[in-house]
Amino acid sequence: MSKKLLLKNDHIEGIHTLPIYRANGGYSVLEKALKTMSPEAILEEVKTSGLRGRGGAGFPTGLKWSFLAKPEGVPRYLVCNADESEPGTLKDRYLMERHPHILIEGMIVSSFALGAKTSYIYIRGEYFYIARILEIAIKEAYEAGFLGKNIQGSGYDLDLYVQVGAGAYICGEETALLESLEGKRGNPRIKPPFPAIAGLYGCPTVVNNVETIAAVVPILEMGGAEYAKIGTEKSTGTKLISASGHINKPGVYEIELGIPVEEFIYSEEYCGGISGGKKLKAVVAGGSSVPILPAELILKTSAGEPRMMSYESLGDGGFLTGTMLGSGGFIVMDEDTSIVKNLYTFARFYHHESCGQCSPCREGTGWMEKILLKILDGRGDMKDIDLLWDIQSKIEGKTICPLGEAAAWPVAAAIRHFRSEFEEYIQYPEKIRDIKHYYRLQETATA
Ligand SMILES: Cc1cc2nc3c(=O)[nH]c(=O)nc-3n(C[C@H](O)[C@H](O)[C@H](O)COP(=O)(O)O)c2cc1C
Repeated sequence: MSKKLLLKNDHIEGIHTLPIYRANGGYSVLEKALKTMSPEAILEEVKTSGLRGRGGAGFPTGLKWSFLAKPEGVPRYLVCNADESEPGTLKDRYLMERHPHILIEGMIVSSFALGAKTSYIYIRGEYFYIARILEIAIKEAYEAGFLGKNIQGSGYDLDLYVQVGAGAYICGEETALLESLEGKRGNPRIKPPFPAIAGLYGCPTVVNNVETIAAVVPILEMGGAEYAKIGTEKSTGTKLISASGHINKPGVYEIELGIPVEEFIYSEEYCGGISGGKKLKAVVAGGSSVPILPAELILKTSAGEPRMMSYESLGDGGFLTGTMLGSGGFIVMDEDTSIVKNLYTFARFYHHESCGQCSPCREGTGWMEKILLKILDGRGDMKDIDLLWDIQSKIEGKTICPLGEAAAWPVAAAIRHFRSEFEEYIQYPEKIRDIKHYYRLQETATA
């Protein structure tokens, strides 16, 4: 049984309310941190824990915090990224909906460590009902003296606000998020300067994912060194995984990093195997942006070693034979899944969500969607596969923000591992008649 840190109280009814959260040890970390620890000591614990950002890139959190500029007389901000729009990822939703106070407690102690006196939770527009849950929890925290002036007599003041976005995937990219939070169009900024130097309103800012900030609570509770003993050397602690697709038990699971992928898919504790007793065909392990892997490569590395649920093991082999842990959106596909059809769905999404600032992304995502539709519609040509490859390679690395990579990688991986499936659609268009009508309808809808 995996150790639970973030979801350890998941079974407790009413845990979203402050009295029940407190009755189960909630806010004791805040009291300990504000009364007995300095901001520097908190930073050290986070560094020692080895915590890596849970938003997708896996950047070491302690290191990111240590980059924060501290000029005299200039405010600093902590911004929680709750935009969670990556297809396949819904773990932050689960955490905020059921455990709002662990995020708020994490926000308070992290803001204290960073010297922020005003902090924000930026949440995607479609999660408006969760924004309400958070606002109620924040109100409870103010009333209990955990927010506001002189928190618990410590002399530390903090105001925490929830800002609802308007439902744009691009606003999950940290600099687009900051633009949106400032009331502007959510276009990513050119970096450098990084937010740690010039972020919100041009002031030093840390942007962290919901799960990253919540993880600071168990880290301070147990100590960074104890936290680092969970998982592997490079992937410490626990991770929330949103499992979806053709599995018997879809849901959000908290795993100890480093468990075998095979165990995650087939054990009763997690996904419970492939639904209908079918065979596993492929997995998108970390949200729609990460490269898809066929069954043989998701279960074992190219060296034949069991593949583990960790940053390093999923990344083993680079993009030729590996993938990424990403945001933990684990999408499982059975033997009957059409990879091309699935890719088209992703391509439509990225085309729709491109902010349009950089031409390779703005134009390239549209072309990829159109070519995939052409193939799916039985009008494909063998040259289209090479054209798709060419377009994705001209987006990757050529845009201001990584939405370009997010759109390009799934295309490259699908062609790399499932080229014959594209060829089959092109050679035997009669095979796809059944889905033609459906895609024609979508084409009309997008036109
Ligand atoms: C297009 C795009 C969308 C993103 N969406 C999210 C998101 O919804 N939530 C998130 O935490 N990070 C998202 N990120 C990553 C953020 O830019 C940033 O790296 C992250 O919030 C940092 O937090 P962490 O260090 O705690 O992982 C996105 C990145 C890109 C390029």
